[in-house]
Amino acid sequence: QELKLSLEQIEKGGYEHFMLKEIFEQPKSIHDTLRGRLLVDEGIIKMAGIWDHLERLNKAERIVIIACGTSWHAGLIGEYLIEEFARIPVEVEYASEFRYRNPIITNKDVVIAISQSGETADTMAAIKLAKEKGAFVYGICNVVDSSISRFTDGGSYTHAGPEIGVASTKAFTSQLTILSLIALKLGKHNGNLSNVEFMRLITELDALPKKVEEVLATTHDLVKEIAKDFVGAQNFLYLGRGYNFPAALEGALKLKEISYIHAEGYPAAEMKHGPIALIDENMPIVIIAPKQGHYDKVVSNVQEIKARKGKIIALVNKGDVQVSNMADYVIEFPETSECFSPIIASVPLQLLAYYIAVYRGANVDQPRNLAKSVTVE
Ligand code: AGP
Repeated sequence: QELKLSLEQIEKGGYEHFMLKEIFEQPKSIHDTLRGRLLVDEGIIKMAGIWDHLERLNKAERIVIIACGTSWHAGLIGEYLIEEFARIPVEVEYASEFRYRNPIITNKDVVIAISQSGETADTMAAIKLAKEKGAFVYGICNVVDSSISRFTDGGSYTHAGPEIGVASTKAFTSQLTILSLIALKLGKHNGNLSNVEFMRLITELDALPKKVEEVLATTHDLVKEIAKDFVGAQNFLYLGRGYNFPAALEGALKLKEISYIHAEGYPAAEMKHGPIALIDENMPIVIIAPKQGHYDKVVSNVQEIKARKGKIIALVNKGDVQVSNMADYVIEFPETSECFSPIIASVPLQLLAYYIAVYRGANVDQPRNLAKSVTVE
């Protein structure tokens, strides 16, 4: 028992929990996901998995992304990326719904299955169904040689390294990184992305590991302090627009799964269709408001929250004034293109969930009722 404990300590590398270690590993895991693939000097993205099936992918009438949980959130961002840069229609489905609703899938469709573990039962069953219906299935997995990675027709590994904490962190940002590479590569080859735009975006992508390192260094202590004020919270709302709507969903999922505080993610503009009724001085609202990404619209959402006395925790870019002036708590993160901003903004949200859960005495690495990979229905 003692030996097991000390081995675990070594594996945690000086961190109190695997989750914190994995949050801090993200500059490296994103770098590892990009390594050998993103060759900025040569102006290319080299991905054998995509290259081997380029024709099939670019000729797809439709791409359907299937996944569960955090991987499904990554899929939602993948939809925005692929539609924006490759201009191929994308739908995103929960694997558990897809498998039982007799979906319309033909051999002209490409299905992208995303799974950290590569063992999720619902995702596996959805893949089987898609293959039976003739679709080409591309897998995005983290665990090498996992069932899903072996069963798909092609795929890419995320290379995030082993993720032990039940709450997915570094696997999520690596999934976003892979999806960015795929969208840009498809867009470049099918002519929807100009060379100038492609170069600008890959240069931004290349800068992400450094920016994630910066956001960890500049927000860690601050978020740790902010978390103290929300230990007793019973509800949380997370809001974002565009690419940061799924980031809001993911922020809320992180909080609920490890701290057991009820949290909901919403597209900021949907607030007026219901959740606004919940806002009073006891409702903490996390709002993701980078400079690029409907900023003016988010400003008016923040004004509506302010008028109802909600407690605003704003994630903004450095030097922000308008939203920051209205917020109760301000967390600044480095600027990047809107499409990559969830990769940076997710990091302080992971830290916020982590510290609130730690202060509440929760078992952060192994939350109640949850398993790392859900191999049952
Ligand atoms: C994430 O924090 C969750 N633990 C969970 O939603 C997870 O993402 C989901 O079960 C899917 O797992 P997979 O990526 O291994 O398929």
